Amino acid sequence: MNQRDNEILRVAIQKSGRLSEKSQELLKECGISVNHGSNKLKASASNFPLEVLYLRDDDIPQYVADNVADIGILGENVVIEKAKEVKVIEPLGFAKCRLSLAVKREENYPGIEFFQSKKIATSYPHILKSFLDKKGISAEIEEISGSVEIAPGIGLADGICDIVSTGSTLLTNGLKETDVVMKSQAVMIGAMELGVGKQALLDKLLFRIRSVRNAQKNKYILLNAPNDKIQDIISLLPGMKSPTILPLANEGWSSVHSVIKEDEFWEVIDKLKDLGAQGILIVPIEKMIV
Ligand code: PRP
Ligand code: ZN
Repeated sequence: MNQRDNEILRVAIQKSGRLSEKSQELLKECGISVNHGSNKLKASASNFPLEVLYLRDDDIPQYVADNVADIGILGENVVIEKAKEVKVIEPLGFAKCRLSLAVKREENYPGIEFFQSKKIATSYPHILKSFLDKKGISAEIEEISGSVEIAPGIGLADGICDIVSTGSTLLTNGLKETDVVMKSQAVMIGAMELGVGKQALLDKLLFRIRSVRNAQKNKYILLNAPNDKIQDIISLLPGMKSPTILPLANEGWSSVHSVIKEDEFWEVIDKLKDLGAQGILIVPIEKMIV
């Protein structure tokens, strides 16, 4: 039997936490069915040669570097902190957050010099150290692996450096964000070397991921417009190739169908209305192959 037919792509995702649900959802949107058991370490997909390993996100870079997993989905912040021998393959656009410094809300914060000779608790000592070095600040870095946000309250540190997403963890712990150290999002990482068979599977998976992400970034737009304004409207809606124009039963009017970037929509909507567009519908796209 051909060796390539036996290949399985092993993907490591976060077992539980901020990224785990979205990572599972991404595989699902790619049409991959995995029986995500609640307490499993491993599960297989039924319709794609893929195996999912459920791990602590902090451990994923090591597992990928050691070739126990071929690829992994985790926060860019963890990838940079761990600095293992892995490649960043693709940004995934979800779990956007920032790694920030924070101090007690009542603290009078003059600027980064506040931290000179102070103690900062974090799970990201390497990233923090290089940030402080660049700013010329020397501080004591206390590495702790979890519940960093309670450190100032219990007198363990003067400030923290941790992930901020909605900001609610800081808020409920009486802290305020002072400086952004880095921005982060979920990324896919991979082993430095993948064999031909695994690489082919990865390419197939990446094609699906990109189609899902393109679809999420775009919307299908339908509108009715007077024929004499069609050219102006088309120039606002270039679409994938060119928009589809269909005559309406109502003489002198046409229906225009196109694709528009979600973040551009709000900018052109007023212009479309000024040109006489009516009955504007914006519809989600499930997959978009480009
Ligand atoms: C981060 C951070 C906070 C929370 C902040 O943890 O340590 O607990 O997210 O989010 P919020 O601003 O929305 O309240 P993360 O999910 O990275 O978990 P981990 O360190 O346990 O892997
Ligand atoms: Zn973690």
